[in-house]
Amino acid sequence: MTDEIKDKNEQSPIIDAATGGPLSKSRRRFLAHSGMYTAGLVGSALLGACSDDKNVALAQDDNDSMNGGMDGLDPNNPNVIVLPDGSPSDAGVLQFALNLEYLEAEYYLRAVTGNGLMEDDIGGGSEDPGMVTGGRMVDFSGEPLIGRYAAEIASDELDHVQFLRSGLGDGGVISRPQINFTDAFNAAAQAAGLNSFDPFASPINFLIGAFIFEDVGVSAYKGGAQFIRNRDFLTAAAGILSVEGYHAGLVRTILTARMDEQVGDTGLNIGQIVNAISDARDDLDGPDDIDQGIGDDNTSVSIYGSSIRSTNIVPVDDNGITYSRTPGQVHNIVYLTPEAAEMGGFFPQGTRIPANPGLSTSSDSGSGDMDDASDMDAGDDSDSMMMDEMETDNG
Ligand SMILES: [Fe+2]
Ligand SMILES: [Fe+2]
Repeated sequence: MTDEIKDKNEQSPIIDAATGGPLSKSRRRFLAHSGMYTAGLVGSALLGACSDDKNVALAQDDNDSMNGGMDGLDPNNPNVIVLPDGSPSDAGVLQFALNLEYLEAEYYLRAVTGNGLMEDDIGGGSEDPGMVTGGRMVDFSGEPLIGRYAAEIASDELDHVQFLRSGLGDGGVISRPQINFTDAFNAAAQAAGLNSFDPFASPINFLIGAFIFEDVGVSAYKGGAQFIRNRDFLTAAAGILSVEGYHAGLVRTILTARMDEQVGDTGLNIGQIVNAISDARDDLDGPDDIDQGIGDDNTSVSIYGSSIRSTNIVPVDDNGITYSRTPGQVHNIVYLTPEAAEMGGFFPQGTRIPANPGLSTSSDSGSGDMDDASDMDAGDDSDSMMMDEMETDNG
């Protein structure tokens, strides 16, 4: 994945069976993506919610009454997109997102302040908040600008947690799941060819740790977008997705600028470690090549047939569009396993997604991709979701 990373202008026309003409690249891409999901894979990630309407119903669970809407919209409520039966509820997508935001917030807050989320931001639902293992204040004194970046991102992640909690409301909010940074980062390091890794040991280590999360956040929100029914939630999710993209871009830019620096006593430089992490993520999430490292000195783009040296700050496909991950693929990465599992890695007791149990399981990527989709029964149990309204007064 070096000089081939950004062959964006590659042309490979495919005949459209309906018209006999060439199929546009974007159409091909669309078909490829829809194939990814037709297995019933349900939703991936996340979404926030906001609206001028203080009583926006969380549009979920009554799809049966919503068939036949023009352009996929519910004829009785033009603000709601109709999805096939069996799709995850909007609440489930939000809850999945909140798990990831808890993880990010705890990581950045601990690095910046030495403490994690406060009491008011971790409870809810029927289960007590899980413990967080590992994480401590990073000494940014030698790299004060990285410390300022870290503080800004920490504030964003805290806002994401509070926003999603408020949006889910008392009936839908989930407590913080158990999180283990220490064991998970060591396991991730081994997957990337290192003996161990402490992301809190230095500002650069901290950025390498952040690299693991931010790209996954982007692909998770992107993957979840097509499963959000309420257009206000979809708009909020787009806002969170773009924030994760800014975070990822910042982290990747700094790591790119310093890719030749040695990292501690690892014998490896930053570029080697970051690219090894990218390869490990690609191994974890299945056969599709949907991860990209930061490239190296040979990285180039093709512009009208000319190969021009470049960076690889943004992982994108041939259309310049970021990748999607399903909930199963996201869980493969945060559970640090390529196999179907319900817990592991950063979440030793699993994520919390009570309304859509299938969303909390990783994929068995050894057999393809979405094999866990058939295990999902989202839709049968959605009545248990007590949330009828989104609280939208959280600013
Ligand atoms: Fe976030
Ligand atoms: Fe982020």
